[in-house]
Amino acid sequence: MIIAVDGPTASGKGTIAKALAAHFALPHLDTGLLYRAVGRQVQLVGGNPDDAHVALAACDFADSLLNDDILRSEEVGGYASRVSVHPQVRRALYERQRAFALQEGGAVLDGRDIGTVIAPEAQVKLFVTASIATRARRRWLEMTGRGIAADLAVIEADIAARDERDMNRADAPLMAAPGSVVLDTTHLSRDAAIKAAIAAVHARAAAETLRIRPFDDSLAKHFHDINAEWIAEMFALEPTDREVLENPREKIIAPGGDILFVEAHGLGIVGTCALQRTAPGSFELTKMGVREAARGLKAGEFLLAATIARAQELGASKLYLLTNRKCAAAIHLYEKLGFVHDAGIMADYGARYERCDVAMLYKGG
Ligand code: DC
Repeated sequence: MIIAVDGPTASGKGTIAKALAAHFALPHLDTGLLYRAVGRQVQLVGGNPDDAHVALAACDFADSLLNDDILRSEEVGGYASRVSVHPQVRRALYERQRAFALQEGGAVLDGRDIGTVIAPEAQVKLFVTASIATRARRRWLEMTGRGIAADLAVIEADIAARDERDMNRADAPLMAAPGSVVLDTTHLSRDAAIKAAIAAVHARAAAETLRIRPFDDSLAKHFHDINAEWIAEMFALEPTDREVLENPREKIIAPGGDILFVEAHGLGIVGTCALQRTAPGSFELTKMGVREAARGLKAGEFLLAATIARAQELGASKLYLLTNRKCAAAIHLYEKLGFVHDAGIMADYGARYERCDVAMLYKGG
């Protein structure tokens, strides 16, 4: 899996890219460092970063330069932004980045043009951004934290100038690649931003391997088999279950409910879930089962999210479910996607199944 993380300076993209690399056990390349090394090399030889020839010659920098802490300084960042304008420089650094992206097993790269130029085929593209004021404050905190004297207003002006240059250069300007997930970190803590990025990667990966199939009679057998199997394994199949599982069109579809299926690439139908209309605007989410074979694919979460969305399409003002404490993993998933335990639902519907000792109402995600 290739993960492209692009965004302006101090948006948090580096932190997010590093965290994604650690979480998904992928190698990580901070491509900004390459431009910073070129900028630093120009600075070392006393050259003009706006001169394309000088900047191109600096692309021959020694690799050891990449480990020099000075690359992180604001001054070198300014040089990097200026040398990165030259197409010759971008071409010279292209192969190195491209090879990193294409290594076996995948990689995480962060920069400005990863999703647009370096790895447009990336399975996941994130565009991380934040307001200029927030980014300036973060940079200021980071610098003062390291004991470097800094002026917030100067940093803010510098960031604005770099944004302007990075976004308006003719060659590979900074922009959100088509199909990217935009992650605005202005109001997010570091941990919340990382969590959101990990969730976005999971969602994209799921969308690649999983797809939702609507009900048709040829799939009714899966609805029956998947549910009969897990219910019989954990409890006993009650008459009320059998009635629904054996007559899905009559019991679920005809009264205005729906049944969805989740199909996994290479595995076929791996899960199903029904919405039983119990009164106008009222739906019971029921008969949700996912096969063991789909473990780890997040098929259950994918299916549940699609079923909730379908309930909303059907005009559900009340969406509830009944289950049993033994189904701990499922309950955890229901809670995660916005269901809460509800005594009223238990009082009204709990007697429907013998095995029912948990009742939940959808309150929204
Ligand atoms: O991400 P950073 O602040 O370390 O990047 C420094 C400069 O390098 C940035 O202002 C623009 C340039 N850059 C680029 O043009 N393309 C990239 N993929 C990464 C960085």
